Amino acid sequence: MSIYVNLFSTVLQMLTLFLFFHSLVNGRGMNYYMYNSIIKYLYKIFIEGNHPEIMEKITKDKSTNVIWHRATVTKERRERLNGHRSVILWFTGLSGAGKSTLAHAVEERLYQMGCRTFVFDGDNVRHGLNSNLGFSREDRKENIRRIGEMCKLFIEAGVIALAAFISPYREDRASVRRLVNDGDFIEIYCRCSIEICERRDVKGSYARARRGEIPEFTGVSAPYEVPENPELIMDTGDTPLENCVDRIIEYLRERKIIAEDRDRNLF
Ligand code: ADX
Repeated sequence: MSIYVNLFSTVLQMLTLFLFFHSLVNGRGMNYYMYNSIIKYLYKIFIEGNHPEIMEKITKDKSTNVIWHRATVTKERRERLNGHRSVILWFTGLSGAGKSTLAHAVEERLYQMGCRTFVFDGDNVRHGLNSNLGFSREDRKENIRRIGEMCKLFIEAGVIALAAFISPYREDRASVRRLVNDGDFIEIYCRCSIEICERRDVKGSYARARRGEIPEFTGVSAPYEVPENPELIMDTGDTPLENCVDRIIEYLRERKIIAEDRDRNLF
């Protein structure tokens, strides 16, 4: 499709130049800027309506003239060096569902098996890289976009990236999935009812949200969109932590992300 878009864009540009020179030769009054406006208008009617994602790229992507340098040490070679594949384990669920606890417990187990890992979670990333973002729809989208890009770099580096974020919108999770190769994004839904999360209320946030002190709080005054096709569902409300960890490790073995016979007590 992008071939057609490029072709369309080239034809429009040639048309602009042609009309511009034509008008010069004929001494007519229309100038380059007027043609430019016409071109922008054509873009709007032909591309914006049908392909908003392309229009977004045309209008928002400011990193032009940037050329990607091809590395000789590739993801595949790093994976061979490490003896395991690198993927994103994406833990999604309500605040208090146990995403970070589970991510850290899985990381601990993987570490003991000699795997390279790193955990990102909402509260940490929002203190640093994403400290300029709040909880509006747009900010949450940007939060997840940046984290997705960061996880992509980590898996390029051969690391198993464990990301624990509420990530309440399906569209945002799907856009991270699209960033990486098929099979490299493993969505783990930490299923836990709002009642249990609220009863736990580890950080006291639910009580504050109910009092109206925290606006747009997920599950209280902002939505959470349940994953439709996650790779794994963990009932973190009533399943013991170690059982959840076992299931995830078993899944990684089934998918040959880590070897079947990898020793559990290496480190
Ligand atoms: S996300 O929705 O953008 O994915 P993220 O996982 O990064 O959220 O951050 C969630 C953490 O921020 C929660 O654990 C909670 O401690 C804190 N938080 C503060 N305000 C809100 C809010 N309005 N909604 C949800 N979490 C919030």
